Amino acid sequence: MFLQINNLNKHFPTKQGNLVVLKDIDMAIEQGEFICAVGASGSGKSTLLRQIAGLDSPTSGEVRIDNELVTGPGPDRGMVFQHYTLYPWMSVQANTEFGLKLQGVPKKQRREQASYYLNVVGLTKFAKSLPKELSGGMKQRVAIARALASEPKVLLMDEPFGALDIHTKESMHEFILDLWRRTNVTIFMITHDVEEAVFLSNRIYALGARPGTVRKEMSIHLPERSHTVKRHSIFHDYRDELMELMRRHGQEAVAAVA
Ligand SMILES: Nc1ncnc2c1ncn2[C@@H]1O[C@H](COP(=O)(O)OP(=O)(O)OP(=O)(O)O)[C@@H](O)[C@H]1O
Ligand SMILES: [Mg+2]
Repeated sequence: MFLQINNLNKHFPTKQGNLVVLKDIDMAIEQGEFICAVGASGSGKSTLLRQIAGLDSPTSGEVRIDNELVTGPGPDRGMVFQHYTLYPWMSVQANTEFGLKLQGVPKKQRREQASYYLNVVGLTKFAKSLPKELSGGMKQRVAIARALASEPKVLLMDEPFGALDIHTKESMHEFILDLWRRTNVTIFMITHDVEEAVFLSNRIYALGARPGTVRKEMSIHLPERSHTVKRHSIFHDYRDELMELMRRHGQEAVAAVA
């Protein structure tokens, strides 16, 4: 097993007492999978991703990558966030090289590696541009190139397309599927968008809220991954099942707080 989350719990101390955000999370992910964790706002998705990224540590339980215990951030994990995180004063090329620079990769090598991944995301022509000269979708492609430039074992993405309009989002979906097929990188993406999760992933973990728990694990088998598949009854069945699950859990969570 490539990425393992074993009995992970995360609590935050608050003025109201101990807040249990993630409870008994178990996940087992193979190399090359495209996993989506889907859940409502507040279900602890970003918190979960931060534990995998090593930006925060679990209250109990563990995350393992290739059997190695995660104890902090590392180049084996590339991270893409929802909000644009490019440095506005740096060119696209410099932004893409940035992580490699931090790792002490020599100039020539980091230039080559960054250029390679800018080409993978189709932005070679914009290498000298500043982020403000790019559209939202292009900025996210740079963020993906930057994450890939360190050649991570897993790409972690926190609602990466959440801020994009529907058309840009659809073209980013095709882009990320194509990139996944070409690079065979393992992708762990979180989203609250059920259709996005069904369209992109080969397996979904549906999270319930308060506390965040895995409510269901669902393998997705679609006859094809093109936009016409969204009219297919199989696509609707997956979507409706997940929507119903989230609706039910939303009602339970509201009842628990009331
Ligand atoms: N550092 C922290 N201290 C206290 N509580 C926190 C902290 N970080 C997150 N939380 C709480 O944990 C819960 C889950 O937050 P998280 O951001 O992981 O949810 P999410 O599923 O990513 O939501 P969204 O879809 O809105 O991004 C929330 O109730 C939040 O207030
Ligand atoms: Mg979040």
